[in-house]
Amino acid sequence: MEVLSVTSEIYPLIKTGGLADVAGALPGALSESGVTMRTLVPGYPAVTGKMTGGREVARFDDLFGVTGRLVAGRVEGLDLIVLDAPALYDRPGNPYMGPEGWDWPDNWKRFAALSWVASELGLGLVDGYRPQVIHAHDWQAGLVPAYVKFGPSTRLRTVMTVHNMAFQGTFGAEIFPQLRLPAHAFSVEGVEYYGGVGYLKAGVECADVVTTVSPTYAAEIRTPAFGMGLEGLLNNRSATVFGVLNGIDMDAWNPATDPALAQNYTASTMQGRLANKRAVQEAFGLEAADGPLFAVVSRLTWQKGIDLLAANIDMLVASGGQLAVLGSGDAELENAVRGAALQYPGKVGLVTGYNERLSHLVQGGADVMVVPSRFEPCGLTQLYALRYGCVPLVSRVGGLNDTVIDANVAALQAEVATGVQFAPPSETALADAIRRVLALYADEKSWKKMQRRGMKSDVSWQASAARYAELYALLIGYSTDDSA
Ligand code: ADP
Ligand code: GLC
Repeated sequence: MEVLSVTSEIYPLIKTGGLADVAGALPGALSESGVTMRTLVPGYPAVTGKMTGGREVARFDDLFGVTGRLVAGRVEGLDLIVLDAPALYDRPGNPYMGPEGWDWPDNWKRFAALSWVASELGLGLVDGYRPQVIHAHDWQAGLVPAYVKFGPSTRLRTVMTVHNMAFQGTFGAEIFPQLRLPAHAFSVEGVEYYGGVGYLKAGVECADVVTTVSPTYAAEIRTPAFGMGLEGLLNNRSATVFGVLNGIDMDAWNPATDPALAQNYTASTMQGRLANKRAVQEAFGLEAADGPLFAVVSRLTWQKGIDLLAANIDMLVASGGQLAVLGSGDAELENAVRGAALQYPGKVGLVTGYNERLSHLVQGGADVMVVPSRFEPCGLTQLYALRYGCVPLVSRVGGLNDTVIDANVAALQAEVATGVQFAPPSETALADAIRRVLALYADEKSWKKMQRRGMKSDVSWQASAARYAELYALLIGYSTDDSA
């Protein structure tokens, strides 16, 4: 099976969040299920800079008003097709924003171009390459299913994966004439969304199959609280909406071999974690204490519930805990943590900015990974935490619900608990959960058992890659249109 994945970020080349990890790991995971996945990505400097020895496979004289070309090749083990269009992508900053933190005003064009090119590839633009399915990720690739639906009839099928409903890519109606779609695509059955153009809406409406990254989120987004306006649409097509849980790259995230750790360890040599805990304490300016070390590795945003944690820092510190926060985001949340770090030197530490290496060390050395999200489509940090014997403390939403087994009485008796969950996502519920963690931590023997169970839980891609492969096969099998 030939599948073309379309994404705006991919690890290890360019990453702002979990989407990059997923896009980077999926092709390798799928190869075991007989799926060949190539990935179309924009030619940001971080991508073109690494693309040496690629082969030009197509040229565009008028790509939404600029010139561009497609370069195919292998980079860091990834089979890529890079859309090299300097006028659109050769810019500083992250994939979506300039260095000053503002979205690029032509994002509509940058990602329409990406999606349009994907659909052209699907129509056979490049000799010898004909994907059967295009797998589009998030709003940046949301127009792919629309270009396919409103293009010439073919056997090409589309999968739209929603990694986060909060980011929908909505623009004014004035861009529509430039999108290269027929006039009737500006409709409820197409890209029209509350009078404007909705990229994610288009994907959710037009794709053959919609997936999201956990079963619980797949159910949640059919309600107004989580669907963010798209719940009606999802309910209408609920038979073709699936939750497929993310996995992790088991090689990149392996405490036995991870070069970012001060000391490597396995489930049977967990005392090795102590050297990592000391290294984390040093990196965050914390005392070399033995109380529970709580940690956060996250975007600091409302979604992630960082304010709920900030409100509990006094209690956490008074109870003998420490807190290490790695992340950046909203200034207000950053300042709340920074203020706590100043108030509690040696007990609370903040490292801002993006630091992949340090994120690994934190997983290998902290005792508790706190993920108090208000909503969480899947969440990867709790999966890394499980793999590293760092006990996850999570809110009971989305993928956090599906991946952590709460240490309630029954789970403790059955010896299956892998972490602590709380609900609803509120300050007081988190306070109770922190107290439960403190009590569990005090019982050293059962804490160790919980860590070991986490390390043994299956957080790999195996089951989910097979599920995607099954969906692709189903789609191709369903095809009845032989016109192409
Ligand atoms: P989201 O995609 O919503 O941000 P996920 O949990 O799916 O949440 O993925 C977040 C990814 O980004 C994880 O790989 C996590 O380790 C990483 N990450 C988040 N913040 C930082 C940071 N400041 N430094 C390094 N890695 C980070
Ligand atoms: C999004 C979600 C996160 C998910 C990631 C990868 O960024 O916020 O929960 O893990 O995508 O699917």
